[in-house]
Amino acid sequence: MCGIVGYIGHREAYPIIMKGLQRLEYRGYDSAGIALFDGNTINLSKTKGKVDDLSARSKQEISLAGTLGIGHTRWATHGVPNDVNSHPHYSNSGELVIIHNGIIENYDSVKKELQKRGYQFHSDTDTEVLVNLIEEVKKKEGVKLGKAVQIALNQVVGAYAIAVFDRSKPDEIVVARLGSPLAIGVGEGEFFIASDASPFIEYTSNAVYLEDGEMAIVRLGKEIRLRKIQDDAIAYPLVQELKLNIEEIEKGGFDHFMLKEIYEQPRAIKDTFRGRLRPNEGIIKMAGVDQNLERLLNANRIIIAACGTSWHAGLVAEYIFEDLARIPVEVEYASEFRYRNPVITDKDVLIAISQSGETADTLAAIKLAKERGAFVFGVCNVVGSSIARETHAGAYTHAGPEIGVASTKAFTTQITVLTLLALKLAQEKGTYSKSRFREILTEIEGIPHKVEKVLESNPLIEIIAAAYKDASNFLYLGRGYNFPVALEGALKLKEISYIHAEGYPAAEMKHGPIALIDEHMPVVVIATKKGHYEKVVSNIQEIKSRKGKIIAVVTEGDVQVRELADHVIEVPECSESLSPLLTTIPLQLLSYHIAVMRGCNVDQPRNLAKSVTVE
Ligand code: F6R
Repeated sequence: MCGIVGYIGHREAYPIIMKGLQRLEYRGYDSAGIALFDGNTINLSKTKGKVDDLSARSKQEISLAGTLGIGHTRWATHGVPNDVNSHPHYSNSGELVIIHNGIIENYDSVKKELQKRGYQFHSDTDTEVLVNLIEEVKKKEGVKLGKAVQIALNQVVGAYAIAVFDRSKPDEIVVARLGSPLAIGVGEGEFFIASDASPFIEYTSNAVYLEDGEMAIVRLGKEIRLRKIQDDAIAYPLVQELKLNIEEIEKGGFDHFMLKEIYEQPRAIKDTFRGRLRPNEGIIKMAGVDQNLERLLNANRIIIAACGTSWHAGLVAEYIFEDLARIPVEVEYASEFRYRNPVITDKDVLIAISQSGETADTLAAIKLAKERGAFVFGVCNVVGSSIARETHAGAYTHAGPEIGVASTKAFTTQITVLTLLALKLAQEKGTYSKSRFREILTEIEGIPHKVEKVLESNPLIEIIAAAYKDASNFLYLGRGYNFPVALEGALKLKEISYIHAEGYPAAEMKHGPIALIDEHMPVVVIATKKGHYEKVVSNIQEIKSRKGKIIAVVTEGDVQVRELADHVIEVPECSESLSPLLTTIPLQLLSYHIAVMRGCNVDQPRNLAKSVTVE
């Protein structure tokens, strides 16, 4: 939620910051702003709208000169998205300028205190309160900016990644983080600041990731010094080499990131099992699992906590773990789990699933489970993210950066990792036959090729999308392993096309949703051969007799459903437990085309943000 970028060095800051904001726009896009400092004058421009709107406005409104600058792309928390609430924010004296990603929870009481001392506020934001608190500390204590930031942060409660500069200090930017990510790119005589490394990838491959509770004074001509916000202890920066390359964060000829990411799935799934899957030896190697095998095998139950699409991956995992490894599983919305005083024991294992690794509710669920003695295993995509660091052990999905706000390749790679984990535990526990184990490993190796085959249906799916793009509602049905896929299909359609859609276990249709079915209701049914096929066929018949329009995802060569359905999309044959990796793809493409045809902003759907760092 919200992206922040900063630059200090020998280049003009404006183009670096604007491009950086564009790359971080996935984090929030309801308003944007920039402040540039040329050593004398601070030039600030901000606007409701996207980074392109900021670009147009700033070119008309301000001088673009300055080798120090900070920029922000916002997902509103406090205060509606409008020009005034956009960041950066000045302090009352106009001497300090701040950008902030996060929430200051006690802003109201701090604001009242500051108002008593004569401070005036122009926006409704918590961020303007914070910058004035820093100013007040600086004046009252007679300290420099870095110290003032530290003292002020000790007086606030909440989450933040901030960058702030002072007119009297043209060679430094002070940054701090608690609960929101912040990276510093270290170049030759220049520094970059950003919510992730994508804004500075073409300038330097050296980065320092701040840990929670750390701050830094980024000063030209000096090495970065980190310190703990709470007690001033010095921390030594670990300069990491970035693995990201520029192609991964650009559209590479696709119209949208979402489409690029859908098409990347064969590669992403392969990268996720590469090095872990060894069919010839009949083994799965996963460092995070191997080192904690006892703990995982002794689990009385597995609790999976996640949100949104990651929660759907958790539901698929429930089937896999129970079916293959015979371990009881409960799948929880992290937001509910954290607040309902759950029963957790030290015999439990909590698996936290998160693409971004920053989701506030999932992080809170992890902290709660740890406090109560559970072993916590993370499945994250973003390397070094908060969740990856907070968990006892974990396994990364190697999907590469996911920039489209609607999750696609994150979902299939999460399922891939969770399948490997379940299989590994099943093998160790002896709940799965040795021969079947080898067979399924070989089958997993073949999945990327099968996904490629599914992607060949794209032109057909585009035609189907054209037929239903004006529908007001959709129903998605699936059973067993494909029930969560139905939920995921419905979520994808809702979030990017704004069409109302519901996912249901196919058999539940009779218990209510069937009342919705008439000739205007498109129903997407996953009806692959393995797993309750005949029962799903009966459900399809029930829809047909009520004149519903049937779009069926079937196994290659199917004839029975073809006779009943209005449209069929074929996927190659595979084991039921792996089928979500194939059946999800047509649903992603269907949502994508419908959204494009309706003129929706596919990569940046309204009201959403890629990484939900507030609860
Ligand atoms: C849907 C989507 C969201 C996320 C959810 C969790 O397409 O992207 O529902 O899945 O916000 O995010 P992560 O996985 O980053 O914890």
